[in-house]
This record gives sequence, structure tokens and C-alpha cells, in this order.
Amino acid sequence: MATAELAGKHLVLGMTGGIACYKIAELTRLLVKGGATVQVVMTEAATQFITPVTMQALSGRPVYTSQWDGRVPNNMAHIDLSREADAIVIAPASTDFLAKLAHGMADDLLSTLCVARDCPLLVVPAMNRQMWQNPATQRNVTQLRGDGVDVLGPDSGPQACGETGDGRMLEAAATYEAIAAFFAPKLLAGRRVLLTAGPTFEPLDPVRGITNRSSGKMGFALARAAQQAGADVHLVAGPVALDTPWGVIREDVQTAQQMHDAVMRSVADADIFIGVAAVADWRVDHVSEHKIKKTADRALPSFSFVENPDILASVAKLAHPPFAVGFAAESGDLDVHAEEKRLRKNVPLLIGNLGPLTFGLDDNEIILYEAGGVTRLPRADKQTLARALIAEIAKRLPDTSLIR
Ligand code: C5P
Repeated sequence: MATAELAGKHLVLGMTGGIACYKIAELTRLLVKGGATVQVVMTEAATQFITPVTMQALSGRPVYTSQWDGRVPNNMAHIDLSREADAIVIAPASTDFLAKLAHGMADDLLSTLCVARDCPLLVVPAMNRQMWQNPATQRNVTQLRGDGVDVLGPDSGPQACGETGDGRMLEAAATYEAIAAFFAPKLLAGRRVLLTAGPTFEPLDPVRGITNRSSGKMGFALARAAQQAGADVHLVAGPVALDTPWGVIREDVQTAQQMHDAVMRSVADADIFIGVAAVADWRVDHVSEHKIKKTADRALPSFSFVENPDILASVAKLAHPPFAVGFAAESGDLDVHAEEKRLRKNVPLLIGNLGPLTFGLDDNEIILYEAGGVTRLPRADKQTLARALIAEIAKRLPDTSLIR
């Protein structure tokens, strides 16, 4: 998660009765960490599952549970709370509460402030699979979607009742991601983005290989930012220990050749290609079938190498290439190497960074090299930089990429 990507956003987090209330403690923590202010409103039933004291401690604000709360000077909590909000998020949203919302009922504080709102409403359903599949629930959800309500999830899997199926609430982290995506400007709506990220692994034998110190963090942050900006995102990832960003299609590969083949299979559908991966330049021409052993005379092994395909250059060479963006990680003379690389690979935009010095770190400093000159983005965490870079890429897209 980026530092303060929800700064300035004020959310009313409405909790209704359900065992998934326990997930909202974590969701609140994530939202607060993301910079949002969170005003928790609980129904009577929700307070049976988790206490308002817990939610107050996590949100840092007093929790509202009743329409008749004497703390509100004008007795209009329902109006005041919804007026301040950038969005109302109902999580967990019970079967009963979805039904109330679909019918515009207003018989407690939370339902009343939903009816009184002039901001977006997001609901995160949580219920037993049969309750979810019930035709009345499905009718209500269809009605809510038609009324412009965003329905996040539900997920599928084991449920508190012991059954398995659709209806469980999204995990807290996934709910956070969906909320963050909701607020992100849709700069890449309708665009298709293909990215490579991470290192590659070039085997020497069944247990050893050559790789590099790329963590994949920058590429994964860009995939997340592109998805939040409304793009369909396909991420081809080398071996990394990172979770797939919410809503991103991920394909795992090991070698440069596999990464090349995966990219070439999908590139015809892409409007934008971003090559963030630190692709190995060489691989051994013969991978030993068995583990290479020390010999009695202690002779050193020797390897001969062949060059790997240059994925970025291959994409740029296509008859109708997507808008192709490369990365250059250099340990010195960045300006010279980056511009030389941009021209050699024939891409409109090349992103330079301090390369080996930033591998694995959360912060980075990047420079945009293009025919028109050089743009420096201020040092920031990789998530913030990724959002800034996606905005820069969106500005530079030729309109024709829409009709590729
Ligand atoms: O030549 P160099 O590896 O420094 O270039 C870096 C840029 O080229 C990155 O965008 C990287 O993803 C891409 N690249 C590639 N295939 C290679 C080598 C690099 O796509 N075989």
C-alpha cells in the first residue's frame, strides 16, 4: 500500500451484523494507514459481533450506533455524517441490509444516512452461500447495481457456517484495494497494459542458476497503479515473492526466453507495454541435465553463453507496436546510458533509475527520457512513483492506440 494514497478522503464505514465484522478491524487499520479518515457507524446487530470500543480505538473517532445519539447537537447525525463523506462503504453488508438499501428503507441510523447520502455508496456483501444465491438477494443486488451502487465481491470459499461457496466477504486487504481503486482517476480506462517485472532465472543445472537482485516491487506497483487507473492489466512476472495486485492477471515465468514468449503471445492485444523486468542478457547454451558435481581433480566448471532475446526491442520492432516503455537501471552515467538505450531499443519513453542502488528498496527516484527531453520525478515510495508514472504515460498515449 502507498503512503497516504487516500489522504483527504473521508469515509463512513457502515458495519452491519455478520461474523465478517472481525475483518473490519483490519480494514479500518488499512484505511487509516492509507490516509483516510474513517467514521464508523454500526447497526445494533454489528455491535453483537465486535464492540464499538474496538472500532473507536482503530478509527480514532467515536463510533455512532444510534439515530438518537445525544452527542449530535442538531440531532441530525444521518444528514451530518453523509454530508461529510466522500463515500459510504457498507462492510460487511448483510442480506437484510442489502434488502433495506434496495428498497430505500430508513429505520435506523445507517440505513437513514444511506438514503440521505449525496456521495457514492459501496457495499461489501458477506453471507452464507444460500442467502447469497436466494433469488430475493440476487434481485436486490441487481437493483442496487442499477441504482449506481458499487458491489465489491463477494468472494468464494469456506464459510463460518461450515459450508463452502459464494458469499464470503472479501478479505480486508482486497476490500482496501477495491476502495483505493474506486478513488483512483481512471486515466487508462479501456486500455490494455502488458508489463514484465522481476528478475529472470537462467538455470545452469537442475538446482543452480543465474539471476539478479530485482525484487519486482516497481513492476508490481506499476501493475497495481495501471489497474487502479482502469486498465486491463496482464503482468508477466519472473520469480518474485510478491502478492498479485488486486484485479491483475499474472503469468509466472522463470527464464528470459519464457518471458519473451509470454509477452509475444499477448502483445497484439496491448495498447501499452512496460518492460520493467531485469531480464538476463545471457543464458548458458547447454543446461546440465544433472547437478554439476565437483570432480576428484577439482577442475573448475566452464560454461558458454548465448544471448537472450531482447523483449523490449522485439516489441518495439513489431509492425504495430503498443506504446512501449523501457527501464534502465544504471550504476553511473545514467543520462548517457538511458538515452543511448532509448534510441537503440527504439522506444518513445525510457525510465532511468539508480538501478542496482534501488533494488529491493521501497523508495526510488526516476527520470523520464524521451525525444522531447528529460523529466525528473521527485523521490518517493515506489507506489507513489508508479501512480505518477502511469499519469505521465497516460498523457503521452497517442489516440490511435485506442483503435489498434
Ligand atoms: O539493455 P538493458 O537490459 O539495460 O535494458 C533494460 C530495458 O530493456 C528494460 O526495460 C528491460 O525490461 C528490457 N529488456 C528486455 N529484454 C532483455 C533485456 C532487457 O526486455 N533481454
